[in-house]
Amino acid sequence: MTRTALVTGGNRGIGLEVCRQLARHGHRVVLTSRVEEDAHAAAESLAGERGIIPRQLDVSDPESVRACAGALAERGIEVEILVNNAGVLCHGGALDTDERDWARAFDVNVLGVIRTCRAFVPRMVERGWGRIVNVSSGMGTFSGSLTASPANYGVSKAAMNAYTVRLAAELPDSVKVNSVSPGWVRTRMGGDHATRSTEQGARGIVRAATLPDHGPTGQMMRDDRILDF
Ligand SMILES: NC(=O)c1ccc[n+]([C@@H]2O[C@H](COP(=O)([O-])OP(=O)(O)OC[C@H]3O[C@@H](n4cnc5c(N)ncnc54)[C@H](OP(=O)(O)O)[C@@H]3O)[C@@H](O)[C@H]2O)c1
Repeated sequence: MTRTALVTGGNRGIGLEVCRQLARHGHRVVLTSRVEEDAHAAAESLAGERGIIPRQLDVSDPESVRACAGALAERGIEVEILVNNAGVLCHGGALDTDERDWARAFDVNVLGVIRTCRAFVPRMVERGWGRIVNVSSGMGTFSGSLTASPANYGVSKAAMNAYTVRLAAELPDSVKVNSVSPGWVRTRMGGDHATRSTEQGARGIVRAATLPDHGPTGQMMRDDRILDF
């Protein structure tokens, strides 16, 4: 069945590839980017794919989130799949990270997710179907590399994971929310030495975005496996 998906940070890296794969699965994709021109340029780079709608969306700006949701609603576009992919990483430890870097990581990686969920998830509940994917990281899990990660990144992704669990507990089973780790992926954030391509990293995200009705919710996943938080 064709659905409408919205991807944050869809202009490059894993987000752009998620847009491509969702479009190839036949879904309509609202490709969003912090910078409007980047959304259009990215959509043009996917010119071979059908149903791509470029939109400006800065997840750290509540007004931008509201404006995007309002403009889509005005056009009668219902977001059924929300991929919270936008993310930032700053280096530093638990004590030496600058407070501005802590604030930025939490604004994008945690509050950004909460803002888009508050904007789009209530309609999913009303309409009785939805899928939310919070793009997380093994660095945000107690069972993984939280203690070896840049502190603001790992701690903010762990908070994102906690939000996934909490939101899942409040939602009906027809609206599923999961965290997904894409693995270590060759992007601007992951660097050139990462072990996975964007195609590989995006696949598990797309899988979680299109889960069947009996699929899991409130979980942490990588590819087709459920991981411990
Ligand atoms: N690469 C990896 O190895 C890896 C591993 C685990 C998890 N992840 C996660 O995967 C996701 C995508 O990462 P990536 O590797 O593709 O990184 P990337 O190439 O650095 O891309 C990050 C994306 O997030 C966007 N973004 C940043 N702040 C934003 C904001 N305020 N509003 C909207 N978009 C914003 C960026 O937009 P601009 O271009 O405008 O800056 C860009 O599109 C992130 O959540 C990251 O934490 C990546």
